[in-house]
Amino acid sequence: MESGGFGSINKSIAMLSLCGVMLIAIIYGFVAYIEPKPTPLQGFTAPFVFGKFRVPDDNPLTQEAVQLGRRLFYDKQLSGDNTVSCSTCHLQHLAFTDGKARSVGVSGKTLDFNSMSLANLMWGPRHFFWNGRVDSLEEQALAPIQDPNEMAQNLDDLIDELEADDVYPGLFRSAYGKISAENIARALATFERTLISADSKYDQYLRGELKLSAEEELGRKLFMAHPDVKVSLRGGNCIDCHSQFLTSGFNAQFDGFSNNGLDTEALLNPGLQFTTGQVTDRGKFKVPTLRNIALTAPYMHDGRFTTLEQVLDHYNEGIRVSDSLSPLIMEADNQPQDAVNIRISLNLNEEEKRAIIAFLHTLTDHSFITEDKFSNPFDADTMPDA
Ligand code: HEC
Ligand code: HEC
Repeated sequence: MESGGFGSINKSIAMLSLCGVMLIAIIYGFVAYIEPKPTPLQGFTAPFVFGKFRVPDDNPLTQEAVQLGRRLFYDKQLSGDNTVSCSTCHLQHLAFTDGKARSVGVSGKTLDFNSMSLANLMWGPRHFFWNGRVDSLEEQALAPIQDPNEMAQNLDDLIDELEADDVYPGLFRSAYGKISAENIARALATFERTLISADSKYDQYLRGELKLSAEEELGRKLFMAHPDVKVSLRGGNCIDCHSQFLTSGFNAQFDGFSNNGLDTEALLNPGLQFTTGQVTDRGKFKVPTLRNIALTAPYMHDGRFTTLEQVLDHYNEGIRVSDSLSPLIMEADNQPQDAVNIRISLNLNEEEKRAIIAFLHTLTDHSFITEDKFSNPFDADTMPDA
């Protein structure tokens, strides 16, 4: 009996532990079922010459997130009155700008700033907007949605709308889990990270696939050179700020922001000062990428120039002096500076200005502006049902 008693206790223990194991297996299975397992983005590459890039640990590039982000980017439901999407002001055929001097959103009021191109956002200054006031694409994404003049949407209302949608609950479930403001922002940021422009004529030239014309080549050399009269080196000085292959500002701290002489002291917009509170940053703006620049007129933070000719005239002979004007612009001159009459001018000739413009045209990337995977999924109806 005793041994039998022991035997049944042993049996009960065995049964209990079996139940425990099964319970754990069931719970684990359930969690695995509700916990999404998104697929890492396949075939994602970036040109070696662009240098390293960083994706936040808590928002990896996955196929599901890109698909969701693309749909959100083009969806007018994201605005309060369902009339405006991100793509209203960021159109693919204009390299994700809108062709207006300053953008207009749901309120019909003209915004303070010119729309910015959304190419190669993983590189360049890691501060977004002309005045650098946000530090991540995730943080950026919720700004226009809530801005009363841009999309005027309440985030809780938006979440309710997306919950009631046929497709979004499934898309969110497989990308992130639940529908939340944070996950809306993550998905938009992920889609934006995939907007890589690296197949312009200039890229093809860098890969050794073609030669530039003589004029484009002269423009490239001028773009890349800081002038030095002592050694007869002529230059347009552009590379000093529009750095290397990306032609956007440097990414350390706020090094990618500068004052390129658009206004006199009295007329300066606060610019970066709005973000840092430093008087010395007054009038400094984000150095934007020049990739696809021939498609993204009008130019500058307020869209004041309509043509690249006007931009070149500005750098060559239109610089306005103010306290924070970049010293790189002040001292760049292709003629010996006359101590008595220091007028800020690059002193490029007409042929050289035209050559720089010809080089800027080589930065146009036709595949970027026609690529299916960046296009409006509602147009093509290419989105599979969730
Ligand atoms: C009404 C027009 C409008 C809408 C709608 C809009 N944007 Fe923009 N976007 C702009 C303007 C204008 C700027 C520059 C604003 C500034 O500097 O203050 C900008 C800047 C940006 C930038 C910063 C780029 C950089 O290099 O710093 C990103 C990223 C961006 N928008 C993404 C989005 C996303 C995502 C949406 C949708 C959720 C969106 N935008 C909706 C007009 C718009
Ligand atoms: C001292 C730094 C600096 C130098 C040198 C410089 N730029 Fe810029 N560039 C900027 C900044 C900053 C902006 C944005 C200014 C603003 O909007 O307030 C800008 C804007 C531009 C724009 C308009 C971009 C857009 O999206 O609207 C073009 C085009 C441009 N630069 C071309 C050039 C060319 C060509 C050269 C050489 C001749 C050059 N830049 C030299 C800093 C510089």
